[in-house]
Amino acid sequence: MQKIRHAVIPVAGLGTRFLPATKAIPKELLPIVDVPAIQVVIEEAVAAGIEQVVLVTGRGKGAIMDHFDHSYELEDTLRRRNRLDLIAEVERISEMIRPVSVRQKAPLGLGHAVLCAQPIVGDNPFVVLLPDDLVESDIPATRQLIDRYEQFGAGVVALMRVDREDVSMYGIVGAEQMHERTHRITSLIEKPAPANAPSDLAVIGRYVLPGSIFAHLQRTRPGHGGEIQLTDALQSLARDQGLVGYEFQGTRHDIGDKLGFLKANLAYALQRDDLGDDLREHLLRTLERE
Ligand code: G1P
Repeated sequence: MQKIRHAVIPVAGLGTRFLPATKAIPKELLPIVDVPAIQVVIEEAVAAGIEQVVLVTGRGKGAIMDHFDHSYELEDTLRRRNRLDLIAEVERISEMIRPVSVRQKAPLGLGHAVLCAQPIVGDNPFVVLLPDDLVESDIPATRQLIDRYEQFGAGVVALMRVDREDVSMYGIVGAEQMHERTHRITSLIEKPAPANAPSDLAVIGRYVLPGSIFAHLQRTRPGHGGEIQLTDALQSLARDQGLVGYEFQGTRHDIGDKLGFLKANLAYALQRDDLGDDLREHLLRTLERE
C-alpha cells in the first residue's frame, strides 16, 4: 500500500461569515484560544504522518505561509530577552512543515480547489482537510481515515450522523453498513433537501483520496450552487472504484460558523491546564447570574 505523504488544504475562501474580522486577516488565522485554526488542522495532519502540505490559496492569504516560516526579527528579539519557552514554540511551528501553495484563481468550488493541487500531488493518494472542521480526538481523525484506507485499499471519507433538518448543510451519503462505523458508499448528494437525503450520514471535512480522483474532477460539471463539487466527483469515484465511509471517533466543531467557532474556543480552552479551571468557574458564575 502506497504511503500517504500529501495533504491538500483549501484555504482560498473569503471568510465573509466572519467580517469584519477577516477584512485584512485570513479566516484560517483566527485563533482557537491562541493557536491559529490552520495550525490546529496542520498539526492533525502531521500527527497522522503527513510530510507535504499543499495549501490551495487565494489573494490575501500570504500571512498563512508566513506563519509556518521563520520570523527572524521575532526570534532574535525573543532570544535577546531570553524568552526560551516562546522561542522553542515559535521555532517548532517554523520547522513543523514546509508548505507549498498553489493559487485557485477563481472561486469555482471545493472540487475545483482540490483539482488545483494536481500538479503537486500527481498520481499519489492524498488526504484533504477542510479547515472549517476541527476534530478533537485521541487518534487524529486523519489517521483514523488513513488506517481504513490501508485496510480497504479504497478512498475514505469521514462521516457523522446529523439531525434530519440539518442535512442541507452537508454532503450526504447513501450507504450500506460493512462493519461497526464503516460503510460502503453507494451515492452522494451535495446539500440535499431533507426529503431527498438518502440518509442522515453527513460527510465531514476529512478525506483520503486516490490520485484517480483528479480524472473524475476534470469531468465534473458545475453542480450545487453552480460550483464544481468534490461530492459529485466522489459519486463518480464511488461508482468506478468504490468508496468507504467511516464514522470517525471524536468531536467535530464547525468553526466556519460563528457559534461553532465560539464553542470550539470554549472546548479547547476548558482543556488547557493554564485556563481550564478559571474559565470553568467564570462560566458557572456567569450562568448562575442569568
Ligand atoms: C463542504 C462540502 C460538504 C461537506 C462539508 C463538511 O461544504 O462541500 O460536502 O459535508 O464541507 O464540513 P461547506 O461546509 O464548505 O459548504
